[in-house]
Amino acid sequence: MRHLLSLEHLPRPDLDHLLARAADFKRERGHPPRLPLAGQTWALLFAKSSTRTRVSFEVGIRELGGQVMFLSAADLQLGRGEPIKDTARVLGRMVHGAVIRTFAQTDLEEFAHYGKIPTINALTDEEHPCQILADVFTYQEKRGSLAGRVVAFIGDAACNVANSWAFAAGKLGFELRLAAPRGYQPTAELLARAGGHVHCTTDPGQAAQGADLLYTDVWVSMGKEAEATQRLADLAAYQLNAPLLARARPDALVMHCLPAYRGKEIDEATFEAHAQTIFDQAENRLHVQKAVLNWAGGPEEA
Ligand code: CP
Ligand code: NVA
Repeated sequence: MRHLLSLEHLPRPDLDHLLARAADFKRERGHPPRLPLAGQTWALLFAKSSTRTRVSFEVGIRELGGQVMFLSAADLQLGRGEPIKDTARVLGRMVHGAVIRTFAQTDLEEFAHYGKIPTINALTDEEHPCQILADVFTYQEKRGSLAGRVVAFIGDAACNVANSWAFAAGKLGFELRLAAPRGYQPTAELLARAGGHVHCTTDPGQAAQGADLLYTDVWVSMGKEAEATQRLADLAAYQLNAPLLARARPDALVMHCLPAYRGKEIDEATFEAHAQTIFDQAENRLHVQKAVLNWAGGPEEA
């Protein structure tokens, strides 16, 4: 039994395995040679909104032969104050695996500890490992290995997606440049945990210079809505747009984890010019989730 709680603690061999298996699942879609989750029921327990993560996990579990139930945290007794450790011990007796989207990373870890079933991080305030696995997979599909490349993340560089990118940089050996105002850069403690491949700057042009991949995410992550006005003002100079793209390599890719807010973190023209990549990236969530599910709960991988 395995958990995917963070990219930080995912060993490099497992990361490589997941990327390779995702390619298999993409190629085999529609004619799978086996159904690794046959006879299993998985729970999706979400405390935040989701389109891509929810749908890709629901479809992925079904396509792997499993059953799936979506549980909104607000509808469970959890929403009325039942402790996570009790919820986990109940679900752990009934379902075979859990995919969890929540706020605190420690809540996810507590669930995994008490549930004793494969538990997957579908986004916390700290990390979004499944997203970055799909992003790396997409880059590799289009351009080959990320090793030695330069990735520029522009915007709220202290968010979950940026954090997972930082951990990926240390493991995969690419340079990550984070362009953000000072209050939106990761802590020194997180940078130390990520290893030596991450550089922070307040200058988006400097980050984009010669980059192989430009990446952005929303300026107002889920749970930060009360700060929206301040965030939009603070991050206004950190839009991914044509002048910034002109600083990157001519064949640079543009990615966005979605949902995208045009006129905020990315402009409409840049988004649409790179829509093919961005929606390939979204589709790849499905293939990567299937690799993660198979790795965490499939019999041959146990
Ligand atoms: N990128 C991503 O995780 O999207 P959702 O919030 O729609 O799941
Ligand atoms: N940083 C964003 C990612 C959305 C997929 C959020 O947490 O809302």
